[in-house]
Amino acid sequence: MTYIDLNYTPKGDDLICKFYIEPGNGSSIENSSNDVAAESSIGTWTEIVTMEPEIAKKLKPRVFEIDKSRNEIRIAYPSELFEYGNMPQILSCVAGNVFGMKSVRNLRLLDIEFPRELVKSFKGPGFGIQGIRKILRIKERPLLGTIIKPKVGLNSEKHARVAYESWVGGCDIVKDDENLTNQRFNPFRERVKKTLRMRERAEDETGDVKVYMPNITAETTEMIRRAKFVEEVGGRYVMIDIITCGFSALQSIRDLDLKIVIHAHRAMHAAFTRNRKHGISMLTIAKISRLIGVDQLHIGTAVGKMEGPRNEVISIKDALIRDFFNIKPVFPVCSGGLHPGLVPELMRILGNDIIIQAGGGIHGHPNGTESGAMAMKQAIDAAMKGISLEQYKDEHKELEIALRKWAGSGK
Ligand code: 3PG
Ligand code: 3PG
Ligand code: MG
Repeated sequence: MTYIDLNYTPKGDDLICKFYIEPGNGSSIENSSNDVAAESSIGTWTEIVTMEPEIAKKLKPRVFEIDKSRNEIRIAYPSELFEYGNMPQILSCVAGNVFGMKSVRNLRLLDIEFPRELVKSFKGPGFGIQGIRKILRIKERPLLGTIIKPKVGLNSEKHARVAYESWVGGCDIVKDDENLTNQRFNPFRERVKKTLRMRERAEDETGDVKVYMPNITAETTEMIRRAKFVEEVGGRYVMIDIITCGFSALQSIRDLDLKIVIHAHRAMHAAFTRNRKHGISMLTIAKISRLIGVDQLHIGTAVGKMEGPRNEVISIKDALIRDFFNIKPVFPVCSGGLHPGLVPELMRILGNDIIIQAGGGIHGHPNGTESGAMAMKQAIDAAMKGISLEQYKDEHKELEIALRKWAGSGK
């Protein structure tokens, strides 16, 4: 049976996947594409006698585009192949066995276009960019966040103290690091209570709204308990390591419909997004996360410590904010190796609808956390006013010191 039909025009309710493909085992691009279409839907390695013609008629996908110059193909899948609202099932089809077949040497899922009915079966973000801006009462500028450093090691008391200094220095957001959860030296519940108490103090002193994003990452039922606890004690946010927890666990949290914003950290994504020839693109991960319902997602920085080409980071940002049927826009988060000197360039590339986070770039300030937060905020203010940092630093000594410390790093 052939799945290749270059004359096929996709229907409105088809799900379309774009793959990069390199044939393996001496196969042609046509044969490998055929194998991918079969294995990701109704077929297997050989013809089968149980394949009734009606099954193929109803559920057969079509390889409708083969671009040999780029090794890219597109496959249209009838939406009946999929269980609505079930992301693991969708991925077990189009991002499952296919990556391990001998018939492909390399295979990368570059993009998925989801049809309207499938999109409508997911909740999407509960808050999205507008909802978050409303909570924080910040209309236009990027939000400023920090990650408490050291990543792990502080006790809950010291953690709360560093959070307080970050907020009064000018951070809107304080978050745990991806590997801080409920270790013995810093128990989750104790940390949340103490840090939220400090949040209130910082709010009283500054008159601004401040938020804390405790990392609830754990086994799903425990994670649900932690999310409910955060809501009970007055938290407004939780953070989840969505790749290590899995999409199903993420959906369990989203389906609680708590009045809590969900911040998504993507630690481990690069195990399958980084290789340009094989795996799954970060763009695909971003679309999936938006459908399930994260409110904020790490997208890379284009500058800073983490790998990720500039045009790719821009396309991920665009996918998070563009109109997408009933699904709200997700706040893109730029985090990893940022410091004040990189802020104007980052805002020039990605605009103002971003969350800028710095860990080392705040807690590494020679005069301490509060000055570090001030310097980051000054860099954002300067960029918003269209004033160069070189000029702005003359009257902002925290910024001046930060620029001196990190001159030339991370570009
Ligand atoms: C970190 O934890 O250091 C970074 O946020 C990871 O970077 P990413 O945002 O590019 O995933
Ligand atoms: C994160 O989790 O986003 C980070 O830990 C970023 O930390 P950095 O600013 O020190 O790279
Ligand atoms: Mg981190």
